[in-house]
Amino acid sequence: MSDQQLFPVPAGFLRPQTVDAAGLKAQHDLVATDENAHWRTLGEALDWIEPFTKIKDVSFNRDDFRIRWYYDGKLNVSQNCIDRHLKDRGDQVAFIFEGDDPSTSYSVTYNRLAAEVNKRANLMKQYGVKKGDRVTIYMPMVPEAAYFMLACTRIGAVHSVVFGGFSPDSLAGRILDCKSEFVVTTHEGVRGGKKIPLKANTDLALLQCPDVKHVFVVADICDVMLKHGDRDINIACVLDEMSAECPAEPMGAEDPLFILYTSGSTGKPKGVLHTTGGYLVWAAYTFKTVFDYQAGDVFWCTADVGWVTGHSYVVYGPLANGATSLIFEGVPNYPTVSRFWEVIDKHQVNIFYTAPTAIRALMREGDEPVKKTSRASLRVLGSVGEPINPEAWLWYYNVVGDGRCPIVDTWWQTETGGHLITPVAGATPLKPGSASYALPGVKPVIVDAEGKLLSGATEGNLCIADSWPGQMRSIYGDHARFIETYFSTYPGKYFTGDGVKRDEDGYYWITGRVDDVLNVSGHRIGTAEVESALVAHETVAEAAVVGFPHDIKGQGIWCFVTLVKGVEPTEELKVTLRNWVRREIGPIASPDVIQWAPGLPKTRSGKIMRRILRKIAEGQPEALGDISTLADPSVVADLIKGANLKI
Ligand code: PRX
Repeated sequence: MSDQQLFPVPAGFLRPQTVDAAGLKAQHDLVATDENAHWRTLGEALDWIEPFTKIKDVSFNRDDFRIRWYYDGKLNVSQNCIDRHLKDRGDQVAFIFEGDDPSTSYSVTYNRLAAEVNKRANLMKQYGVKKGDRVTIYMPMVPEAAYFMLACTRIGAVHSVVFGGFSPDSLAGRILDCKSEFVVTTHEGVRGGKKIPLKANTDLALLQCPDVKHVFVVADICDVMLKHGDRDINIACVLDEMSAECPAEPMGAEDPLFILYTSGSTGKPKGVLHTTGGYLVWAAYTFKTVFDYQAGDVFWCTADVGWVTGHSYVVYGPLANGATSLIFEGVPNYPTVSRFWEVIDKHQVNIFYTAPTAIRALMREGDEPVKKTSRASLRVLGSVGEPINPEAWLWYYNVVGDGRCPIVDTWWQTETGGHLITPVAGATPLKPGSASYALPGVKPVIVDAEGKLLSGATEGNLCIADSWPGQMRSIYGDHARFIETYFSTYPGKYFTGDGVKRDEDGYYWITGRVDDVLNVSGHRIGTAEVESALVAHETVAEAAVVGFPHDIKGQGIWCFVTLVKGVEPTEELKVTLRNWVRREIGPIASPDVIQWAPGLPKTRSGKIMRRILRKIAEGQPEALGDISTLADPSVVADLIKGANLKI
């Protein structure tokens, strides 16, 4: 099967679309003639308290670096996501909640959402949260997480959502980095029938965070004893006293909206900072355009709100459009491997958005668990987070979508706020495994290692030559690192960290990260983070971590570990180290392979040559290339033997 096969828009799909092929072309044409007119139209889709007159002010050059969008306008995100829908759609469902346990589900209308959000906004205000304060949200996938996110935006507080799967140490690091004095959590989460002790984790984390003033603990009843009397607030005891009215704080378009930590190739995770106007414009536009969202559609994005996908496509994009968004607490294989498809039938989901890792895992279970469900409500399918292999794409298309539903393979990043390179449902002919073209106004370029622009059909490093409204504005607390990380490798361009191919038809094919960032089940993990967790263990002298191809996860984590002299390399110690990393970072960073390395391949100046380790982990020792520059080339033979490979 050629991965270049072109899938035209399925015939049954065509009907008046939000943006059809002609509409998409018109947007591209407008960008070519009057770019600002296009950006203005996008901006005007929101409600502004003070309308913007300025649209774009951008320079990616180090000397006069700036990124500003709609920057003299004022708006409020919660007002755009809630209040403006109340007149016409107050009784429409904003969120459908589907619990981990299939017997639990309920709906939240826009009217109820308004009241819930305003009460929490008033609650936070009462306990001292002010405009600009950072609020850390450490919650499971339940509507309360979204209520608190929106409540922050109501009063101009800046949320930092930390994925509930992160360890107490990771949580503490993120609280300290953004000097957050407030935390929102709950006693426990539940996923796949397993409990996650979020409050206990928070208590542990806060041993390292003396400046945290209050922890808002989400609970249904007021009788739960909380350990830290003045610090902890059981919201069930105070929420009833709160007014369901709260004025929306007028925010400058460039005021911070949220921080979201993500892994880079070096050091600790970075606090990606998004601002109010441009981010919401981009989340709203991409949601509506890319998914062909139509009024009344039920939209389900399976991502957790702890990741950017959950921010933009569970909460902000859907709500800015007055859509119905499904919040799912569980996992794809609990209680059965039909769960996704059953939920689609149960709630008549029209647009379904998930990650290739889930598709691959479910594909392995065969067609029957899918085929026994109807899925007739589905209209559009989406994929996000990592390259989707053509085999998984075809299964998703033919089996899940019965060949009726376009797949939008959306390429983007925490840093980009929303989709950049993606098909538009019903407007773009599809190639399995390709994210197709850039959205109007987005300017991808491919450069070689020296930064030379490559044209036509080619392969290289993916940069974006100019800004778009949803672009991150800074790394929280370290603007210099922001410019250094993204704009200095190829001066004057935003460097994505991804490799890419462009074919004869101009379709883009993302090939994966070209830096030391792994993509494990669609989660970004820095090799440096795993390495520093490993060397923090008393038995480890040195560690080098690389990725290797993994059938389900996309990439797995392979750790080469040199032990402290005299420590016995046992299977038991491997288990200990695996658990140690899980405890230090979280289960998502769990090593797949730990290989004892009596020595690591280093240059004479002491730099570890990861290229060699990658080839060993990929099972290609014959492709090692030149190893003559190594200080001690003999270590390579040991490692090849240790990996059970033959040359
Ligand atoms: O390598 C790309 C991959 O995920 C990275 C961004 O990860 P994160 O910031 O966690 O955001 C994930 C959700 C947007 C990218 O640098 N990636 C994301 N989407 C795709 C993808 N790779 C290939 N195809 C995609 N559709």
